[in-house]
Amino acid sequence: MSSCVLRCIECGTRYGIDEKIYSCRKCGDLLEVEFEFREFKGRVEKSSWTERPLSVWRYREVLPVFDDSKIVTLKEGGTNLYGCSNLGKHFGLTNLYVKNEGENPTGSFKDRGMTVGITRALELGVRTVICASTGNTSASLAAYAAKAGLSCIVLIPSGKIAYGKLAQAMIHGARVVQIEGDFDQALEMVLQLSEKHEELYLLNSINPFRLEGQKTLAYELWDQMSHVPPSRIILPVGNAGNISAIWKGFTELRRLGFIDELPKMTGIQAEGAAPIAQAVKQGREEIIPVSMPETIATAIRIGAPVSWKKALRAIRESKGTAETVTDQEILEAQRALARSEGLFVEPASAASIAGLKKLLETGELDRNEDIVCVTTGHGLKDPEIAVRTSEEPYRADAQTASIEKLLGLSKPLPLAVSSR
Ligand code: F0G
Repeated sequence: MSSCVLRCIECGTRYGIDEKIYSCRKCGDLLEVEFEFREFKGRVEKSSWTERPLSVWRYREVLPVFDDSKIVTLKEGGTNLYGCSNLGKHFGLTNLYVKNEGENPTGSFKDRGMTVGITRALELGVRTVICASTGNTSASLAAYAAKAGLSCIVLIPSGKIAYGKLAQAMIHGARVVQIEGDFDQALEMVLQLSEKHEELYLLNSINPFRLEGQKTLAYELWDQMSHVPPSRIILPVGNAGNISAIWKGFTELRRLGFIDELPKMTGIQAEGAAPIAQAVKQGREEIIPVSMPETIATAIRIGAPVSWKKALRAIRESKGTAETVTDQEILEAQRALARSEGLFVEPASAASIAGLKKLLETGELDRNEDIVCVTTGHGLKDPEIAVRTSEEPYRADAQTASIEKLLGLSKPLPLAVSSR
């Protein structure tokens, strides 16, 4: 690992990498990890990466971790990139791929960030980690904290998180606090708590080390696509950390001299929680937070995304775009992906497919582009929705004849006599 600092994305103030801060002390804006890329010359080689398994830690040299003995891993990353020709054909697309992040250890992309974030927590010597979450972050943090032997506190919006995610946080032994409020309020509270109580380490995506892990999705895609990145990446946006992280990954690949062209970052938000998509559509420099965000895709039910500025920059610098989709469109996309490609993703993840469909309809996408949709979480996180939106199971008594009758299975035909 070469030298790196924390840098404010607005005023450029630099802080030592070991400082435990989450925002700039001068202007209050977001921080990011900045590497001294000149030091990478001759040290980072594509070939040495290829010798390691596809995973977050394949890209060890570009991860801000200093003591290898402290790395906490559950084997995250290395998720499959599926060529989706069935769905692609349906949309009239030549090259449609899905990067399925539900295949991570706890079933979402958050694990990429947590392996780095929790490792940093150990390097900093903290004992307790904390986050606010719509579900997946809490599931992931709880699992990695368990592996690292740290205590874990999660704040979640009461009644608005999918059951599978709640189960994960509970079984991994986190102290789960359900608040009578939404995610934005929970985040505000953990920000205050971690400022006030030095012993707490905050692992929401405002923490720049989390995003360093998540940026490896870009490195993996570049590897999986024979070192030519796709022309467009479509992904759901909530708190806006992931789109910012993936964009950072691609810009680093360019700085390393490994790519020339960068993909267009395309963010999809649910109609009832779309401050970033609205800002993009209206050409505004700032977002207007949504006070009562609402969507069936609870993972992205967020009205005041903390990384909005990084996300707007990613979308604009990459010449990408943003779109909104309705709950109905999300559910239809979830079902279409499950039935045409055999991939079961949670509703928030299906927003990327719903967004793709909408952008094709509005003529904003070229049908010859190489498009990667990122599906961020596994469908089993939220089985209730899948059951509620699918046809009910048939009911029958335990008789073969009853099943034949029910399914309209005709009597077997007599064996055909060959005419030859
Ligand atoms: N998809 C899923 C499945 C998510 O869980 C999230 C965020 C997102 C997309 C959006 O990613 O916030 O980086 O823009 N979930 C967070 C959580 C907020 O608490 O689990 P983002």
